[in-house]
Amino acid sequence: NFTPKAFVEDIITEIREKVKDEKVVLGLSGGVDSTVAAVLLNKAIGKNLYCVFVNNGLLRKNEFQSVLDQYQHMGLNVKGVDASDRFLSELAGVEDPETKRKIIGRVFIEVFDDEAHQIEDVKFLAQGTIYPDVIESVSVKGPSATIKSHHNVGGLPDFMKLQIVEPLRMLFKDEVRRVGKSLGINDELLGRHPFPGPGLSIRILGDITPEKVRILQEVDSIFINGLKEHGLYDKVWQAGAILLPVNSVGVMGDERTYEKVVALRAVESTDGMTADWVHLPYDFLMKISNEIINKVKGVNRVVYDISSKPPATIEWE
Ligand code: XMP
Repeated sequence: NFTPKAFVEDIITEIREKVKDEKVVLGLSGGVDSTVAAVLLNKAIGKNLYCVFVNNGLLRKNEFQSVLDQYQHMGLNVKGVDASDRFLSELAGVEDPETKRKIIGRVFIEVFDDEAHQIEDVKFLAQGTIYPDVIESVSVKGPSATIKSHHNVGGLPDFMKLQIVEPLRMLFKDEVRRVGKSLGINDELLGRHPFPGPGLSIRILGDITPEKVRILQEVDSIFINGLKEHGLYDKVWQAGAILLPVNSVGVMGDERTYEKVVALRAVESTDGMTADWVHLPYDFLMKISNEIINKVKGVNRVVYDISSKPPATIEWE
């Protein structure tokens, strides 16, 4: 029977025995797992934990600054690195989903490695790997490995030569949340929807430009804030908006417009392996659709995704 308190005590002892007085670097993503891992390590080794939070330019609107503020507020020794321009210029003109993922993975490692090198004598790399990631990285040797290269378990470059610390590797997601709660991490952070590592890049179908990122951030923010305001956010497992690579005709005053279409997606799921679309209230969808079209320049049509997984996936890329 799992008790967060006992787990925290044991793992802190274990971390201290393993790491001793050495320095540890950890990449924060803004997600639940890396945050809980960081807070645990901070409790165990304090300032010897060096956190790095990278802005890849593909996060939600205002997310980089607001999450960075929260991390600092939590007392973490964290450095925010805004590498947006570097990611977006490497992604320019790229349309293929897997190529996008590979570029983002590679640039992340380059940026992270630059930062790690600035920490003198760092010996360990901590990661927020949880049990399902461990299982998946073992079992994805088969065909599913090529479906989507999701996780980067064990995906460290050799040249970093760091030893690994993974305090959450025996835990399931709900246990991670319970540990987080017992560590005093706020419910808003612990209740955040999953968000893919490649961020908005795989919700902009086709090539990515700064303008498309801006449009999608605005749309996504209206949708997500709307879910929160209407008490729907916690009833949904994951939600987001997708920018489609087509224009459609609309009308504004007595002018015809020819602008972008966005899709909204909200799903129920337990682990992301299967998912059902959420029957959001029509009134809510109407309100959000109007708000998006009225406020976001460049969008004249909103559609709602009513596909389940399988056979569709949660993300469109
Ligand atoms: P799919 O689209 O495969 O998504 O139904 C299942 C879950 O995985 C997330 N996802 C990703 N997460 N890197 C990630 O870290 C990725 O490349 C990636 N692709 C999908 C997706 O958001 C959903 O929660």
